[in-house]
Amino acid sequence: MDDLTEGGLTDSGPTDSELADIGLVGLGVMGANLALNLAEKGFRVAVFDRDPERRAALASGAFGARFTACENEGALLAAVRPPRPTLLLVPAGAPTDAAIAGLADLAEPGDLVIDAGNADFNDTRRRAHELEARSLTFLGVGVSGGAEGARHGPAMMAGGSRAIWARVEPMFTAIAARHGEAPCAAWLGPDGAGHFVKTVHNGIEYADMQMIAEVYGLLRDGLGADEARVADLFRAWSEGPLASYLVEITAEVAAAIDPESGKPVLQIIADSAGQKGTGRWSAIEALRLGSVASTIEAAVGARNLSAASELRASLASPSAAKIDLTPEQLHDALHAGKIVAYAQGFDVLARASVEYGWSLDLAQVARVWRAGCIIRSAMLDDIAAAFEAHPGASLLSAPAFRARLDPLLPALRATVAASALSGLPAPALANALAYRDQLTQPRGTANILQGLRDYFGQHGFERTDRDGSGFHGPWVSG
Ligand code: 6PG
Repeated sequence: MDDLTEGGLTDSGPTDSELADIGLVGLGVMGANLALNLAEKGFRVAVFDRDPERRAALASGAFGARFTACENEGALLAAVRPPRPTLLLVPAGAPTDAAIAGLADLAEPGDLVIDAGNADFNDTRRRAHELEARSLTFLGVGVSGGAEGARHGPAMMAGGSRAIWARVEPMFTAIAARHGEAPCAAWLGPDGAGHFVKTVHNGIEYADMQMIAEVYGLLRDGLGADEARVADLFRAWSEGPLASYLVEITAEVAAAIDPESGKPVLQIIADSAGQKGTGRWSAIEALRLGSVASTIEAAVGARNLSAASELRASLASPSAAKIDLTPEQLHDALHAGKIVAYAQGFDVLARASVEYGWSLDLAQVARVWRAGCIIRSAMLDDIAAAFEAHPGASLLSAPAFRARLDPLLPALRATVAASALSGLPAPALANALAYRDQLTQPRGTANILQGLRDYFGQHGFERTDRDGSGFHGPWVSG
């Protein structure tokens, strides 16, 4: 196989040992790096991308001998050992449907299509059914870790048939990140489970990043910290209970200097953030499932507002009073907010598991996220242990997390209060606090909501002093 040129299989065709172990479609950043990772681990990979330069770059670079560059889907399928697994790394939505159609028309029964992009799990469920109807098999695998992770070890969250996963599991575990000896690649549940877990991973990623941004804002505008000071603080924090990839890279981003201007890079990056949709999907699915993912929602909202440049320019007015907080309080507030963000994310997963009959093992999800992925953090070891000890419980009711969160609350309260009083926004941290407070309030305020609903719509309510439902207030006559 090593001497094959693009699309140029010999007349007699490749021998079995020359056939590739897997096909890969889409040689963007993630696809090319996953292809290199597979090749480095000794797998032969047939690759296809519409851009011939991308194909050629891979075939002529490192491990080039392990690649078969193919000029179309037919050549790709012909170059892979049956039953042929093909990995898709193409943008979500229509491009994924087009790539699947390109393969499905040429595939044979038993061939396997694996979508490793960031797909909406509703699409994954639909695609699985469509391909099954054509005797083809489909897995939706969430892959996290960015370019670096794809190249040297991502976290991988598989959904679909467990038996089909078993066929490709050795390849995926070989290229996955490792936490100690444990590979961070696992089958998590049927149909869309893998992509759903990846979507919620990204939702937590959004919330975590937003809370980091809020603490950065309070440090910068409330405490007058310059970028070097922010970097020093986050570097120190990355050694403690907040130890995580995102906190580590926050220190690096804050410390970086722009070579052109000589200024800290943070000073020259526009304050308007983009998004590809996974955070929004998380919030939407949470609402559909009756879950509260208010930290994720706040994070999506904050990105939306950051991008509303005209409105922001028209309303801009200088804030703000200096705040009276210590960096230690901000550290503890971030720690508390992060616990709540994880609790909300896992609640979304728990509800989806019931709704779709996935039997998700939340401890297993936490274990898969411990290395390789963007939200990897020391806290995930403790989360896995909490779910092992109390499967099915909310993270906030796990004794270890109650004990951990309670002492952090004064700092979270002080931070949210300082944000409100100074006009320096901290919506995700505020939502984290409100979520926790609403859950712990002995007598809530939904009694008046029920009174109002009954008053204007005769919706009825339950009473605290009698069994049954459908009671009405005195405002309903007769
Ligand atoms: C990951 C990342 C990855 C990607 C996000 C970013 O887990 O490796 O989450 O999937 O960076 O899609 O999403 P936004 O562009 O929406 O921030």
